[in-house]
Amino acid sequence: MNDRLAGIKQEILNGIDQHAGSRAAAFELRKQFLDSKTGKIGQLMKEMKSIAPEERAGFGKNINELKEWAQQRFSELDEKLKARELERRYESEKIDVTMPAQKAETGNLHPITQMRNQLIDVFAGMGFEIYEGTEIENDYYNFTALNTPKDHPARDMQDTFYLSPEFLLRTQTSAGQIHVMESKKPPIKILAPGKVFRSDDDATHSPMFFQMEGLVVDKKITLCDLKGMLDVFVRKIYGEDTTTRLRPSYFPFTEPSVEVDVSCFECGGKGCKLCKGTGWIELLGAGIVNKKVLENCGIDSEEYSGLAFGIGIDRTAMFKYGINNIKLLFESDLRVLRQINDN
Ligand code: PHE
Repeated sequence: MNDRLAGIKQEILNGIDQHAGSRAAAFELRKQFLDSKTGKIGQLMKEMKSIAPEERAGFGKNINELKEWAQQRFSELDEKLKARELERRYESEKIDVTMPAQKAETGNLHPITQMRNQLIDVFAGMGFEIYEGTEIENDYYNFTALNTPKDHPARDMQDTFYLSPEFLLRTQTSAGQIHVMESKKPPIKILAPGKVFRSDDDATHSPMFFQMEGLVVDKKITLCDLKGMLDVFVRKIYGEDTTTRLRPSYFPFTEPSVEVDVSCFECGGKGCKLCKGTGWIELLGAGIVNKKVLENCGIDSEEYSGLAFGIGIDRTAMFKYGINNIKLLFESDLRVLRQINDN
């Protein structure tokens, strides 16, 4: 009998040596010997009956010793395997602190979007509401209602992309003025930002660019209101010391019309490369809404008057961020776009 115990002991030692490479395998091996029902050591217990009574006590003791011994071996083995698994895990998860860090890229808004948001902020602060029109317009809204009839020379200023004899890509956000005045009674105070299109292409012109139209219609609106609002706008965007200058100009839909210059924020008005030595930078077109335009929209021009302005968003951004070619804004070159983060 003791030979069988010795045999089982040897089997366990061999098993541990040969098979138990993982904790799962070791567990299976342990079951073969120590499982209370099917384990080989448990089976021995069942044989007690067939053993002579005087030998039983000694036999039982030996079995118990074997059982304890086996339990000891398997728990040692389990400890060893556990330590090895942990070591392997540490090895595979080891961090090399000298490796260059992976940069988490953060994006920023496009300069035009940044500029657009800043402009909206400034004018929203003065009580303007946003109106977004459509990029496809018909001839009436883009020209005729804006006092620019078919044969008017002003149409040449805005080389137009026609989609059909009737429909076109809007050349100016001023088209939005008409939609608003048709659908809303004064007082009106809206801001209409959006894309506009002209067949024009050089360093400062792109066939697609962005404008922001402003329109105020109320009783007793004058050029002073316009100048006051534009002064606030340029100070907020270009700095507190900036001022504006109005020069006479011509647009069919405003009378009088003005070209608005801003004092050069680069040199403070002394004259530099940016302002071409003049101390002033031409920024936008504006004026008092032509009575004919109000009448076209069914607004009584004796009772109400209006002011309108059209800011080039790209142009405003180019001056602010020192961009000398409008194409840089549309080429999606991250080296350029990353440098402009103003929000
Ligand atoms: N729509 C004009 C342009 O695109 C700008 C403008 C807007 C002028 C409103 C006067 C009033 O050039």
